Amino acid sequence: MLNNILIATDGSDTSMQAADMSISIAKCAGAVVTAVYVVDVHRLAQLPGYAAMPGIKDNLMELMFKEGSEALEEIGDKARDAGVAYERTIAQGDPGEELLKLCSDKGFDLIVLGTIGKSGLTKFLLGSVAERVVRHAHIPVLVVPARADGEI
Ligand SMILES: Nc1ncnc2c1ncn2[C@@H]1O[C@H](COP(=O)(O)OP(=O)(O)O)[C@@H](O)[C@H]1O
Ligand SMILES: [Mg+2]
Repeated sequence: MLNNILIATDGSDTSMQAADMSISIAKCAGAVVTAVYVVDVHRLAQLPGYAAMPGIKDNLMELMFKEGSEALEEIGDKARDAGVAYERTIAQGDPGEELLKLCSDKGFDLIVLGTIGKSGLTKFLLGSVAERVVRHAHIPVLVVPARADGEI
């Protein structure tokens, strides 16, 4: 049975194509779609001068929360248009780790991701977050490739 589908978004175009696919599947299966955005706090810590600049952490965190809210809103609109039940959540931490935790803790039947994300590094088959989830998730993983024409 396919009741609960998790779609992971970093706000990238590819993840939005993955969201379209997850909603199509949910519609056929009568499943609920839950979208998650992970605020990548580890990425912040790697920035040069990060620790030395007061206030920068709060600003960058705020920007990431905004990016997440907008992405989750956009997927919510898609789900509503398709008549699919929708939930959303924002997590904080290392994206791969947080996605894997959600996969094992929350009773999802399928996780859907883009092959790549914000880095857009198409020379790699999979981005690092996607690769980690494919390798370690204990539920089925669907990775949706980017299409130049925006079509799935
Ligand atoms: N911070 C995040 N929160 C939720 N999902 C994410 C996040 N980062 C990546 N993903 C998911 O993983 C897919 C692949 O992204 P990633 O592996 O990070 O590639 P890249 O190296 O190109 O950024 C994205 O399309 C998205 O579905
Ligand atoms: Mg990424």
